[in-house]
Amino acid sequence: MSNQIQIQQLEKVYRTGKLEFHALKGIDLTFKKGELVAIVGPSGSGKSTILNMITGIDRPTKGIVSINGVRIDKLPEDKLAKWRGKNIGIVFQFFQLFPTLTALENAMLPMDFAHHGSYKERRRKAIENLTLVGLGDKLNNLPSELSGGEQQRVAIARALANDPDIIIGDEPTGNLDSKTEAQMFELLKKLNKRGKTIIYVTHSQALAAKANRRIMILDGHVVNNT
Ligand SMILES: Nc1ncnc2c1ncn2[C@@H]1O[C@H](COP(=O)(O)OP(=O)(O)O)[C@@H](O)[C@H]1O
Ligand SMILES: [Mg+2]
Repeated sequence: MSNQIQIQQLEKVYRTGKLEFHALKGIDLTFKKGELVAIVGPSGSGKSTILNMITGIDRPTKGIVSINGVRIDKLPEDKLAKWRGKNIGIVFQFFQLFPTLTALENAMLPMDFAHHGSYKERRRKAIENLTLVGLGDKLNNLPSELSGGEQQRVAIARALANDPDIIIGDEPTGNLDSKTEAQMFELLKKLNKRGKTIIYVTHSQALAAKANRRIMILDGHVVNNT
């Protein structure tokens, strides 16, 4: 199978005033469609920086990020935001739901931004996604009325809004207990079986062990990839 994500000679230098920090020092990585991959490594090693280059949240200093044949490092900002909305679903450690919106409204939000379909159609798809993650009976709950695991399920339903090929998680279970983490993995596995590429950063050995491949980052380098 051909590579869905191709990263070549990727470098990222953060500049803070006159100080430069080399967060990524020449990363080469490829991901095939339908892979399930964990990224591991100590705090500050550059894991989130790699994810931010894949999602286009931030731009590389040097190197290539090509996804489904698109050079996202070269896309202008407006096109990049649109591309991301359609192609990538992102899940964060602290869920990042809107506290004043219900589960359903949170799950609809990316569709609202992308102007996909009628309101009725968007609502139907959001309900379908919330049902898929096991929250069909909590559509009208606010985040504060949901457990941590349930909030992360809403975030996953939201990530599925525009049916992206790729789901990225930055420590998606970092704020959950081990039992909820295992349930979250089952959900990611289910999405993976439906053909989605899943890439997550984790500090959990249990979660890393469940992936089909582990990439270890140390000090801005890939030191292991098996
Ligand atoms: N916006 C930024 N400005 C300056 N330095 C940053 C910025 N973001 C991250 N860094 C630094 O880059 C390094 C890698 O960060 P990060 O990718 O977040 O690490 P990880 O996710 O592996 O913990 C860290 O030393 C961090 O302090
Ligand atoms: Mg991080």
